[in-house]
Amino acid sequence: MKTPLQASDPKVYELIEAELQRRKKGLEMIPSENHTSPAVLEALGSILTDKYSEGYPSRRYYGGNEFIDKVENLAIERAKQAFGVPYANVQPYSGSPANLAVHVAVCKPGDVVMGLDLTHGGHLTHGSKVSVTGQYYKSVQYHVTPEGRIDIEEVRRLATEHNPRLLWVGYTAYPREFPFEEFSKIADGVGAYLAADISHIAGLVLGGSHASPVPFAHIVTTTTHKTLRGPRGAIVMVTEKGLKKNPELGEKIDKAIFPGLQGGPHNHQTAAIAVALAEAMKPEFKDYAYQVVSNAKALAQGLMENGLKLVSNGTDTHLMLIDLTPYGKGMGVFAEKALDLAGITLNKNTIPGDPSSPFYPSGIRLGTPAITTRGMKEKEMDMVASWIIQVIGEIKAYQLPESKDERKPYIASFEKDMAKNPAVLKVRGEIEKLCEGFPLPY
Ligand SMILES: Cc1ncc(COP(=O)(O)O)c(C=O)c1O
Repeated sequence: MKTPLQASDPKVYELIEAELQRRKKGLEMIPSENHTSPAVLEALGSILTDKYSEGYPSRRYYGGNEFIDKVENLAIERAKQAFGVPYANVQPYSGSPANLAVHVAVCKPGDVVMGLDLTHGGHLTHGSKVSVTGQYYKSVQYHVTPEGRIDIEEVRRLATEHNPRLLWVGYTAYPREFPFEEFSKIADGVGAYLAADISHIAGLVLGGSHASPVPFAHIVTTTTHKTLRGPRGAIVMVTEKGLKKNPELGEKIDKAIFPGLQGGPHNHQTAAIAVALAEAMKPEFKDYAYQVVSNAKALAQGLMENGLKLVSNGTDTHLMLIDLTPYGKGMGVFAEKALDLAGITLNKNTIPGDPSSPFYPSGIRLGTPAITTRGMKEKEMDMVASWIIQVIGEIKAYQLPESKDERKPYIASFEKDMAKNPAVLKVRGEIEKLCEGFPLPY
């Protein structure tokens, strides 16, 4: 029998089905992605999507919110319990609006904000010039050292010089432990608000395989769809330390999110966040969080033993960055496309001090959250390392043209070559076979 979607809109149904098949047959290794549980998906696809509930529990601008209030309160209580914080707002539509809300809550336009440079692994919303956070505020960006570690001395120097109102610790492409304690000393020394963005590592924090920022930061933000393995969404939290600095911080965050930046909350998303938080508090999630890191370390080791260069020579977390400069400038796009054809999805990424450009960067970023959800362990990581090495071996004969006009046609012809490259096709077959033994959760 046809599903309702299949019957009413076969085009959309078929596209979703095709995406499912792609995932089944390949390895999802973009470190900010994961595979959610059927329970999370059920809540996300529920009738709660129909309801308007601008405002907060017991303070709504619409009627009929008796049960919606209960859903939102449940998500809030679970977030507070899971992370050990006194305040949580679960309404941000996603990570970027959550981070913008933090700026709106604690800064006036023109105030100084500090974050890690985008090309060194920071996020757009931490003051990048192409984001409003770098346009409406006076943004000062810090960097990593040549060894790929956060340059704490530079952070200290810049903070003393510029007196930021808001300091961000938390990254999008940084493979090492986030230095929460060092940042808290620097922020306290200059009177700044310290906001920890744990979007990438929230699941590791909950599972115990990465230190928590809660004793050190005033504010914690996280997306809910990465290692936390929930729906797309975000949470902004205030810690005890944050309330001590400013007892009104929670109210300021609430006001910044609604009515400051958003309208009606996405209640289906809130329910799914509640489900994901309950899953992440189960004992087996701890095993998952530790396995994600063990897998990443095993994979990093396998790649380095076979001659690949990793930024910072390894990882403490779920992700790693492969530095492809030994093969030429701007090779990230070639590696991304060839690996995609082989069945490994990851993303091209700048490496610190990239000699090329963000659109044609010289690295790739990959991670283990989704393949660990499928049940893969160290043994499979050795196989993945070997496949990556084989495919990267096939791209070495190509070079990014210096002339910008030549790049597009050259890459298109490279893709054609790779689509019939015997080594790439052999890897693809082997990956499809492995995937049969590791079903998706849905
Ligand atoms: C550290 C960090 N913060 C914020 C975000 C933004 O999240 P979203 O894409 O949900 O807006 C991301 C997403 O990649 C991220 O890595």
